Order: sequence, then C-alpha cells, then structure tokens
Amino acid sequence: LPPPASPSCPRARLNAGSQELYVIPELPTAVNITWSSINFKTILRWQPKPSDYFYTVEIHGQTSDTQKKCILTAETECDVTDVLRNVRETYTAHILSVTSLRMDNFEEPPFAVSEKFTPYNQTILGKPEIQNYTQKDSELNVVFKDPLTPYTFPNGSFQSIRDIFKHDLQYKLYYWKDQSSGKKDAITKSHKFEINVDSTKNYCFYVQGIIPSRRENRGGQESVVLCTSVGRIFIIIAVIAIAIITLAVVLSVILCKRKKAKPAREKEPLNGV
Ligand SMILES: *[C@@H]1O[C@H](CO)[C@@H](O)[C@H](O)[C@H]1NC(C)=O
Ligand SMILES: *[C@@H]1O[C@H](CO)[C@@H](O)[C@H](O)[C@H]1NC(C)=O
Ligand SMILES: *[C@@H]1O[C@H](CO)[C@@H](O)[C@H](O)[C@H]1NC(C)=O
Ligand SMILES: *[C@@H]1O[C@H](CO)[C@@H](O)[C@H](O)[C@H]1NC(C)=O
Repeated sequence: LPPPASPSCPRARLNAGSQELYVIPELPTAVNITWSSINFKTILRWQPKPSDYFYTVEIHGQTSDTQKKCILTAETECDVTDVLRNVRETYTAHILSVTSLRMDNFEEPPFAVSEKFTPYNQTILGKPEIQNYTQKDSELNVVFKDPLTPYTFPNGSFQSIRDIFKHDLQYKLYYWKDQSSGKKDAITKSHKFEINVDSTKNYCFYVQGIIPSRRENRGGQESVVLCTSVGRIFIIIAVIAIAIITLAVVLSVILCKRKKAKPAREKEPLNGV
C-alpha cells in the first residue's frame, strides 16, 4: 500500500519521492568502514562524504533490538558508544544511504555492512595516568589510575576499565636505568608497583594496561614516560660539596698567606729606614 499523504508531505513531494526510486539504487554505499574504540568510547567511520544524500547507522546486536544512530547525518562518522552498552555482545553496523524523501518509502535503502565488533574483546585500553612515583633507597614506587569509560554507575559516577574488565585486567610496568636500553618489566593487578632498583641510579618507566586472555589488542596505549632524579640529586650534592670544600681550602690558603705576608710587610719600612 502507498503511504498516506501527510500534511508535511504533500502529494507532489511523494511523487518526487517515488520517482527517486530509480535514482536511489545508485546512491553510493559506505566503504572503508572502521570501528575505533578506546576505553569503550566507540566511533564508527566510513567513506565517502555524501553529496545530496545522507547516512543513517543501524546497530545490530545478537540479542538486542536494532538501534538507529546518527539518523540522516551528512557526516562520515558516528559515535555509537551508548548503543554498545552490552559490551560482551557482538555487533554489526549497517550504514544506510538515504535521501530525506526516501524515509516515507517502504523500500529498504541501500546499505553497507561493517565487520563484527565485540567491545569487550576489541576496545583498546587507553593510557593509564601516573599519579605519583618515588624512588627511595632501593625502592621505586609507582602509583597510577585506571582509565575511565564513558559508561556510568546508577549513581552517575564513571566506570573505570577495571570496573568492566575486573580480573581480566592487569598492568605492566616497563622500567630501565636512565640512558640504558635494557628494559625490565613487572606486572600488577593493583594500582601500584613496588620495584627493587639500584638506589644510586635514575630510572625511567611507563605503564600499560594488558588483558592477557585476549588474542589481539592485548596491550593498551602506553602512559607517558617518566624518570626519577635521585642520581642527579646525588651528583648535584656532590658538585656543591666539592665546590664548598675547594672554596674553603682556597680561602684558608689565601688567609694563611695574608697572615704570613702582613708581618713581613710591616717589617719592610723598618728595614728601609
Ligand atoms: C578506501 O580506502 C582505500 C585505501 O585506504 C582508498 O584508496 C580509497 O580511496 C578509500 N575509498 C574512498 C571512497 O575514500
Ligand atoms: C604518593 O605515594 C606515597 C607513597 O607511595 C604516598 O604515601 C602518598 O600518599 C602518595 N601521594 C599522593 C598524592 O598520592
Ligand atoms: C557509585 O557506585 C559505585 C559502585 O556501586 C561506587 O564504587 C562509587 O564509589 C559510587 N560513587 C559515588 C560518588 O558514590
Ligand atoms: C572474546 O574473547 C574471548 C577470550 O579470548 C573468547 O573466548 C571469545 O570467543 C571472544 N568473543 C568473540 C565474540 O570474539
């Protein structure tokens, strides 16, 4: 049955719409569809830029109902984070190429299908934020924070990646003596590392989240590299100490010479007389 003419869609427009049926199959469909997802914030991107048509994204889950996002967008990306909340589910996206008039038709618009995407297995772990680090005696302490996800608890606070991955999540610390290339690493399931190090050397390090059970994307983004400066402080103290000692020696030598010189000079005029 043809759709009834609505006030917002007069007969002439409808006719134009059905004429476009012949044009619509030629609408370009999306290509190069990619999922990019960090800490469960997920953006779908595709090409080409539309001209005279729009895209609408449909997210199909295995168990959940199909959900539409970015309806009639002229962009070539869509933030689908909020429709992938069931993170263990596997989703596919259909990217529909539509004209606005077409929305009144029953014909299915042409569309392209993305690859499958399972947020729990595929989202990239973002950079951990290093909160605090100390190198005291022979212990290097590094305290860091879990990256947050865009998902919230019922009380409104953001869930961290640890709230979602629980025991599947670990962190790896890579550390090395400053200016050396031999990297060591350590693993933790907590928020800190306590490492035995050489107390006189500076160390550099970074932290990375890992999910050992994954086959791909096991390691996440690396935190910034930070270096301790205990060795440098030793050197500065040593330099200052040497400078003070040298100054003291030089001063005492000068003072001694003056003391010896003074009586000698006082004698001179007497000798001269
Ligand atoms: C899709 O990606 C390929 C390779 O990156 C590129 O050559 C091509 O131009 C892209 N297609 C569109 C429509 O932009
Ligand atoms: C930094 O770490 C030390 C020891 O690891 C801890 O006592 C201190 O409370 C931490 N400071 C902050 C701001 O987290
Ligand atoms: C919100 O709830 C979560 C989990 O129940 C809890 O860990 C968090 O501390 C709560 N946040 C606030 C601000 O109450
Ligand atoms: C997700 O990863 C787990 C562990 O590697 C695997 O058992 C499961 O089949 C994966 N799920 C999908 C949908 O790929």
